[in-house]
Amino acid sequence: MSNRVIIFDTTLRDGEQSPGASMNAAEKLRLATQLEKLGVDVIEAGFPAASDGDLDAVSRIAAKLDKAQVAALARTSKDDIDRAWQAISHAAKPRIHTFIATSDIHLEYKLKMTRDEVVQTAVEAVKYAKSFTDNVEFSSEDGSRSDRDYLCRVFEAAIEAGATTINLPDTVGYAVPEEFAEMVSYVISHTPNIHKAVFSVHCHNDLGLATANTIAAIKAGARQAEVTINGIGERAGNTSLEEVVMALHTRQNILPASTSINTEFIHPTSRLVSMITGIMVQPNKAIVGANAFAHEAGIHQDGVLKNRMTYEIMKPETIGLSANKLVLGKHSGRHALRTHLKDLGYDLSNEEVNLVFEKFKELADKKKHIVDEDLEVIVTEGILRTSDVFQLEYLHVTAGTTVLPMASVKLQIHGRSVQSAGYGNGPIDAAFNTIANLTDTGSELLRFSISALTGGTDAQGEVTVRLRENGLTALGKGADPDIITASARAYVNGLNRLEYLKTHPIKETSPV
Ligand code: KIV
Ligand code: ZN
Repeated sequence: MSNRVIIFDTTLRDGEQSPGASMNAAEKLRLATQLEKLGVDVIEAGFPAASDGDLDAVSRIAAKLDKAQVAALARTSKDDIDRAWQAISHAAKPRIHTFIATSDIHLEYKLKMTRDEVVQTAVEAVKYAKSFTDNVEFSSEDGSRSDRDYLCRVFEAAIEAGATTINLPDTVGYAVPEEFAEMVSYVISHTPNIHKAVFSVHCHNDLGLATANTIAAIKAGARQAEVTINGIGERAGNTSLEEVVMALHTRQNILPASTSINTEFIHPTSRLVSMITGIMVQPNKAIVGANAFAHEAGIHQDGVLKNRMTYEIMKPETIGLSANKLVLGKHSGRHALRTHLKDLGYDLSNEEVNLVFEKFKELADKKKHIVDEDLEVIVTEGILRTSDVFQLEYLHVTAGTTVLPMASVKLQIHGRSVQSAGYGNGPIDAAFNTIANLTDTGSELLRFSISALTGGTDAQGEVTVRLRENGLTALGKGADPDIITASARAYVNGLNRLEYLKTHPIKETSPV
């Protein structure tokens, strides 16, 4: 058996099912391009049956990528498979990924089908998908809670029908590593034609065990891992790409398996996902958290200075974290900026680079050192959100110990300038009240958080808001050396995301 583990990234499909993580087509395309650069083997670009928007985004990704396989998800219906094929037929390396649940609980309550009917449906779907492409993946949804012998029967039939990848999902994140490894071994050894397909696993993180289960499955013989960047995904998320890849990379002595991932792009890709989705990783998140390589205790710092290996099992450079985070200053030129942006995953047009350069110079006048995080904010606010309904043109606030906090705000709404003034409990409240009046929003502010992007008093304040309107929730992000401006930007960004969601509703047909 080959020791190469295929990395199947589903950030754009299962990852996008994270609450508030919906991305527009341009953002998806940008992320897909970065995933290809990261060296991902298969990119699950979306679920085309869910909406026309999804189909369009998958189709654009399929047209652009030439190295990675582009997978489209489909239930076992002909309609779903037709739409999946419509979206990826022009891809250099298309894959149809079809799935049906196999656990008794799903069969009885959700599908209302017998075991025999599910086998037959799976076979028909795989055969139908196979009429379009040789590259067909079959998944047994809720596989980890399915009867093992039945699972072997379904897999054998799916392989017989032409599936080239068989995926066993722990859909509800219920498995524990030893048990899951045993199940994988059992299914591999009791499915007679399993050698004709790649065995894959897809784990969810409800018990915080997704990475452990995936690694255990790889040890038991799985050769495809389905993962997402930063572990984003439905509920508690999916297995995180960076954790699996770095575990394999770091523990070669007991995990002799390799991947195609260019590890130095892990950190930029993680940041890109955070910037696009607005979902920041927790500081103590393995591999990509802000503190993952920070040594706080004096005794650790002392050890690291003497020999890094005393407390560091991985080098930060391996995942693309530069030791020297200072990247550009006031005198840096357009060329240096463009090169650096490329490394961060932003391959911009001349026009876009010019726009970023302008903003970069403005910021460099306010702030001495411009670091990666500052550039990411400029790009996300200025370039990735070009179709915004609302744009902040002007903000002026008065606040202090003896005055009533007041804000004057000028916004562009659908390109038309409007302005107003308002009061509040504090300057941020005043700014938010005024923006709410101008935009006539019915949204509710669920969360507001503020943090410094980097150390020092000239650091940019980074604000995240969470808004809800008519059952839709959206995150908004904004950054600025002035925290009130950062807050206003975040609020406007959140309102724009809500507007986007109104026209691109999160899939009601989400498969899991
Ligand atoms: O979690 C799951 O079961 C899935 C399948 C569609 C693979 O996402
Ligand atoms: Zn899933």
